[in-house]
Amino acid sequence: MHTAVLSEEVLSYFSELSSRAPKLALDCTLGGGGHAARLLELDPELSIVGLDCDNEAVRRCLERFGSESERIVVLQANFGDAISALEARWFEISQQLQAGEGPLGAFGFILADLGYSSFQIEAAERGLSFQLGGPLDMRLNQQTGETAADILNRCSEREIVRMLRRGGVGSEASAVAKEIVRSRPLSTTSDLSAACERSVPKARRTPGRNPATTIFQAVRIEVNNEFGVISALLESAPKLLASGGRLAVISFHSLEDRLVARAMRGWQRSTTPSKLPIKAAEDTIGKLLTSSAVVPAEQEISSNPRARSARLRVFEKH
Ligand SMILES: C[S@@+](CC[C@H](N)C(=O)[O-])C[C@H]1O[C@@H](n2cnc3c(N)ncnc32)[C@H](O)[C@@H]1O
Repeated sequence: MHTAVLSEEVLSYFSELSSRAPKLALDCTLGGGGHAARLLELDPELSIVGLDCDNEAVRRCLERFGSESERIVVLQANFGDAISALEARWFEISQQLQAGEGPLGAFGFILADLGYSSFQIEAAERGLSFQLGGPLDMRLNQQTGETAADILNRCSEREIVRMLRRGGVGSEASAVAKEIVRSRPLSTTSDLSAACERSVPKARRTPGRNPATTIFQAVRIEVNNEFGVISALLESAPKLLASGGRLAVISFHSLEDRLVARAMRGWQRSTTPSKLPIKAAEDTIGKLLTSSAVVPAEQEISSNPRARSARLRVFEKH
């Protein structure tokens, strides 16, 4: 079971949408369909195009929303390719949902709830968690791309150090990379956890935190090209939003959140030299509605500990 995170906050940003924004939403990360179901329930005039790169999530949502096919289209696609995936299926989408001419400028609300669903983390065979024994896979879309084992068995020690650093691993990155190379071939999550265990001395561990946490995070980021696809989504979201439309992004680690915050702040910054007689607001894309990230209330965290690290940022296009 996956519980949608920060859903009251997402719904409140959705319900304050300007009346000129179209009643069409793009859910870039359908997962279990929790947010999508709440949005459909809140606004009977809303239609949704929902994406997920994981065919299991797509299957689950087709089953969940099967009877509402005139209100929601479910597609298997990576949100990093959102524009081309939507363009390729637009005829079908516009027939089913009575949407406009094309995806550009079509959406009143775009939601991206980044990361992994509980279904994925709890499935040992996906290899996403160091707490569950399973194959060292970690792909969100298991139909394509290299697994974590493929990457860690192929890359040089130096490439592994770089990958770990990019993904947030600190000074232990070199020792971990050396141990990974020494332990090859790796094939299971236990092989990688054992390499982490051997390479980070007990004295250097943060109390209460398994050193494998950040190392698994860094490898998952690499396997799924997370920074690349989030950057691509941040490029395409302003093009997909209609005037008055909003983009809401929930991230789960500071590295993702930094990309989102930087892009949204950039969109509201004027590009006109201050000497020109144009008001700054006229040449910005829109405004950031969350001056600092919205975080879950204590009550949400106590009922769903997974929400602990969630950060929501929302941007409105002029
Ligand atoms: C945190 S869950 C979303 C949960 C959902 N909001 C709900 O309420 O059930 C994240 C989902 O995004 C999907 N996902 C992650 N990266 C993706 C990407 N680049 N493109 C499409 N889907 C992605 C994952 O497969 C996962 O199902």
